[in-house]
Amino acid sequence: MKRLTVPKIRQRKIDGVTAEPLVMLTAYTARQAQLLDTHCDLLLVGDSLGQVIYGLPSTIPVTLEMMANHGAAVVRGSYHSVVVVDMPFGSYEASKEQAFESAAYLLKQTGAAAVKLEGGEAMAETVAFLNQRGIPVMGHVGLTPQAVNVLGGYMARGRSENEADKIVTDAQALDKAGAFAVVVEGVVEPIAIEVTQAIGCPTIGIGASAMCDGQVLVTEDMLGMFERVPRFVKKYEDIAGMIEKTVQTYAEEVRERSFPSEAQTYQPKP
Ligand code: KIV
Ligand code: NA
Repeated sequence: MKRLTVPKIRQRKIDGVTAEPLVMLTAYTARQAQLLDTHCDLLLVGDSLGQVIYGLPSTIPVTLEMMANHGAAVVRGSYHSVVVVDMPFGSYEASKEQAFESAAYLLKQTGAAAVKLEGGEAMAETVAFLNQRGIPVMGHVGLTPQAVNVLGGYMARGRSENEADKIVTDAQALDKAGAFAVVVEGVVEPIAIEVTQAIGCPTIGIGASAMCDGQVLVTEDMLGMFERVPRFVKKYEDIAGMIEKTVQTYAEEVRERSFPSEAQTYQPKP
């Protein structure tokens, strides 16, 4: 199976219609990427790895080096999906030149095909600048976690008319600037519909209803690795529970000396 390409992802939406929704999940490690790869169209090396892998309080402290290391692992573990790497806070906002330098570093270090950055109109010039210089960009509007200190929390967006209009014009600006897809996070369904109809490139929803052109979730969230997850997460499994049960059994067997047994023990050749 050949790896999908950014133009193929963009072309899944033709004249406003996406016959087959885009499937995206986050991946941070090579093994995780191997397990997800054939089932997904896109793998996102999200800066959510700050919380999920590193136990950080937000995505703000995440560095380019962290993204590069995990991005490289995910590319090594996949051969089918388009790998998109998040640009971390502070690595792209100052200027389009800063953004190019950071994005080029990420693509060189990882072999990923594209980057994602947060923000709408304010980032449109940057998106065009990167795209014209060989770096495809995925946008991210609505609830943008890197702006948590401005937004004041992780609540759903687009509930007021002002906020809703801003989300639509942000997405339009990114689309016009050449973004190949736009993540729409934490917005009420009517705004997700409006954005999806207002732009030519696919929308990928997270907490943005079933009406987007695709969906993304944090893999650890949908697998049930965490006790507390946002309302928009469906927990498909209870992996944390399975791990706890398994580790409990191991600990018991070690303490009662029933592990290792004969099968796991080396003996000298007779
Ligand atoms: O960092 C991340 O995981 C993301 C997705 C949730 C869209 O940006
Ligand atoms: Na992110």
